[in-house]
Amino acid sequence: MAGSKSGARPTRRNGRTVGRAGNSGPWPKVFLAALVSLTASIVVLVLVAADSFTGDGSGSGGAPAGEPDTPVSVATPSATPGELPSPPPASTERPTPGPDGIVVVACGDILVPLDKQHRLPADCEPPDLVRLPDDISHGGAQYLRPEALDALLSLLDAARRDGYELLVNSSYRSYAVQEQTYATWVSLYGQEYADRTSARPGHSEHQLGTTVDVGARGRFLEDFVGTPEADWLAENAWKYGFIVSYPEGKERITGYAYEPWHIRYVGPDVAADVHHSGLTLREYLLKR
Ligand code: DAL
Ligand code: ZN
Repeated sequence: MAGSKSGARPTRRNGRTVGRAGNSGPWPKVFLAALVSLTASIVVLVLVAADSFTGDGSGSGGAPAGEPDTPVSVATPSATPGELPSPPPASTERPTPGPDGIVVVACGDILVPLDKQHRLPADCEPPDLVRLPDDISHGGAQYLRPEALDALLSLLDAARRDGYELLVNSSYRSYAVQEQTYATWVSLYGQEYADRTSARPGHSEHQLGTTVDVGARGRFLEDFVGTPEADWLAENAWKYGFIVSYPEGKERITGYAYEPWHIRYVGPDVAADVHHSGLTLREYLLKR
């Protein structure tokens, strides 16, 4: 009878559409629907589980802040967070020298080595220079970074308490100023002498804005050598975060003749470390 056989066309029965599912009547269709529904549920559960493993609960459907994520046990992620491949380790390699054998160091790091092989970029200028008080500046306006100035003022106070008056002869020097400074030394005494006493532009610690040349009243640069003030500085500078960069007898290591007046701020912890290590600042910074 028509319609009694399983027909090719779907028919309406009790308000439901039924029809062929292959040659097997309505049960396989119900089974198929259940299977589709189960698969969809598993997919949803897997997605929820994956979201809960993002770690911060911020993904869509994550628990509100302050509430613990609901553990999801139905699906196991193929890799737990602990099993994820580790990111490559941060590079600790030093920058390689350019064709001239010189390494250009990072601008802004007060602990970079600066010597004949390491220099700052020409346009590197500290962003926060402040003017030194006039009463400690010898020969015009002087500038330093704030942290170095604070430490310097403490050092000068301590020296004063011990009976020594120290004044600042030179502090921040831009690349352009150092260019003039070096050229002046070359024109006065020749290049060989200039290279023992003056850094070439880019190579001076003065460009950091953390380095100071101090002197006693009326006794600057070479005239400062052998003064009680120079002895006091050599003994005490590290306590205020400064290091005498070019100590006596270390020219072969530092590359510069003895400069008891030239102190560089490195912070109290590093200064104490350098002092107790017995190394020159250059050796210490190159080892970091
Ligand atoms: N006198 C030191 C080396 C400088 O010019 O920075
Ligand atoms: Zn100096």
